[in-house]
Amino acid sequence: MSKKKMTVLDFQKYKDEGRKFAYATAYDYTTASIVDESNVEVILVGDSLGMIMLGYTTTVGVTMDDMIHHIKPVVKGAPNTFIAGDMPFGSYQESTEQAIRNASRILMETNCDCVKLEGGVAMAPTIKRMVEVGIPVMGHLGMTPQSATSFGGFKVQGGTPEGAKKLIEDAKALEEAGVFSIVVECVPSVVAAALTKAVKVPILGIGAGPDVDCQVLVTQDLLDMYGDFKPKFVKHFAHIRKAMVDGLNAFHQETVDGTFPSPEYSFNKQVEIPPMD
Ligand code: KIV
Repeated sequence: MSKKKMTVLDFQKYKDEGRKFAYATAYDYTTASIVDESNVEVILVGDSLGMIMLGYTTTVGVTMDDMIHHIKPVVKGAPNTFIAGDMPFGSYQESTEQAIRNASRILMETNCDCVKLEGGVAMAPTIKRMVEVGIPVMGHLGMTPQSATSFGGFKVQGGTPEGAKKLIEDAKALEEAGVFSIVVECVPSVVAAALTKAVKVPILGIGAGPDVDCQVLVTQDLLDMYGDFKPKFVKHFAHIRKAMVDGLNAFHQETVDGTFPSPEYSFNKQVEIPPMD
């Protein structure tokens, strides 16, 4: 039986009922259809695609066109899963008008279910206006990868009393502005737990410990596909990279020793070949 697609309202319902849910990334049709077949409730087409799919060292070079190109096939592949589309760096910080224009473009051209953008108090007025005009917005706080260079790299955030206080103030500002959920990335578990209690909206944690409302991971990380880089918060739930390399090596071996393709994998109709001049 196919799962029932969550709506924006279900996010709050799940938190109110204490029902945890899971959130994984996809950037293409095939992966989206696999996540759709699983019990994972939410897909993020994150700008992490810059690193995972395009081989960049950060997410900063990802463009609006990149995002739209990748969100479209995910929407096609996962009709039963709620899909968030990330707003890339430079597509919303300039002005409220720019944010509304680019968020509308993502929703209209891809048919995904909401947009996600990074930032706290400073982004709240823009988010408020976006929500007022009917755009469902998911916030993103903590280690916000688009600003990683300003933080001196991918580092845990909110690790001091002042940092924790600022994080909670940011979350409250986003809640006030009308976000329906907030991704919180790479913060100490105790801070994420306090933040989850401090706001009514669901907290979607990645590297934020167990006491949040939802767990987020990049699919290529949780399936051990991405290579040697493994942040502390990533658990490998399967070893797909090894399975793929093993499969490719088996194909290579049978090619070089001539056992592939056997008749089972060949078109075996007998055809008389006329003599050639
Ligand atoms: O782009 C992304 O994949 C993200 C997650 C890490 C939350 O923003």
